[in-house]
Amino acid sequence: MTATAVAHPNIALVKYWGKADAQLALPATGSVSMGLDVFPTTTTVTLDGAAGTDSLVLNGGAAPEGALLRVQQFLDLVRDLAGSADRAAVVSENTVPTGAGLASSASGFAALATAAAAAYGLDLSERDLSRLARRGSGSATRSIPGGVAVWHAGDDQGSYAERVPAPPMAMVVVTISAGEKAIGSREAMRRTIATSPFYPAWVTSTTETVGEMLDACAAGDFTRIGELTESNALRMHATIEGAFPPIRYLNARSVAVFDAVAELRTAGTEAYATADAGPNVVVLTKPEDRGAVATALAGLGDVIESGTGPGARVVRSEGTGA
Ligand code: ADP
Ligand code: DP6
Ligand code: CO
Repeated sequence: MTATAVAHPNIALVKYWGKADAQLALPATGSVSMGLDVFPTTTTVTLDGAAGTDSLVLNGGAAPEGALLRVQQFLDLVRDLAGSADRAAVVSENTVPTGAGLASSASGFAALATAAAAAYGLDLSERDLSRLARRGSGSATRSIPGGVAVWHAGDDQGSYAERVPAPPMAMVVVTISAGEKAIGSREAMRRTIATSPFYPAWVTSTTETVGEMLDACAAGDFTRIGELTESNALRMHATIEGAFPPIRYLNARSVAVFDAVAELRTAGTEAYATADAGPNVVVLTKPEDRGAVATALAGLGDVIESGTGPGARVVRSEGTGA
């Protein structure tokens, strides 16, 4: 019983930052994202009835203790669903930098959920697979459908991701630092909720922004999508910076990209900046402008263009009956 799956990262246009229920990984608000067609993660899960414990090889080496523990806890959920006691060997390869704020936990747990479900013989709908991926990492929920997707706030049944209609869009990823962030998203989220006085306003405003973003997507209004995207990202970073002790993910080079993107707009090119929990900046553009935007930003970091990406999928399976 072995299965291999591929999943891509997604970048939120309206961010998820805060859990209503940590145990079930239920978000405090909805969120909306665009899946990338670059930076795939490939994960293979092989069941081993004789093994005493799960193992994880991540990016060619034995995974750090924390990453292994997270994968083991996730596999416990899969085993519960499948009624199996078998341990698994997991081998995963990210092409996106791991833990750098470019959504490795999204592609990582979407690929793991998809491969593990197949290896353990679960036949899940896309909705149930996204609910399962949610338990590994919240942002992974949206990497199951890919494309432009909404992740609904709700209870365990109601909190899943699905695609929404949207105009053609592209992104230019500006990598400033591929290193691992000092404070992971999970811990930073907890600290923000516990100590940032701005957190309640973040929840109220983001709930409103999700509705506005879905309206803008349905209307095909790229300008409105872009304006909401940049605003929501800066609101998230302001909320995080309000934590105590403070956390600041954006550095001077990140801010320089936001400035360059504002200059592009002044010069007549529609581009909007966003950033997740890390210093790297992702720029939303129209597909026809992505080459020019990438050229304009090339001096500010490592630049990679992306279109709208596919959902997670099984690429190989043996002995699973799938
Ligand atoms: P990012 O911004 O990259 O999503 P996070 O702090 O959210 O950073 O998550 C990073 C963590 O996600 C890693 O420390 C590891 O525990 C987990 N992770 C990343 N990639 C994978 C993968 N391919 N398989 C399993 N777990 C992964
Ligand atoms: C800033 O999904 O990485 O990228 O659910 O604890 O694994 P956990 O956190 P994670 O947080 C993502 C935060 C974000 C915004 C987003 O992707 O919506
Ligand atoms: Co993450």
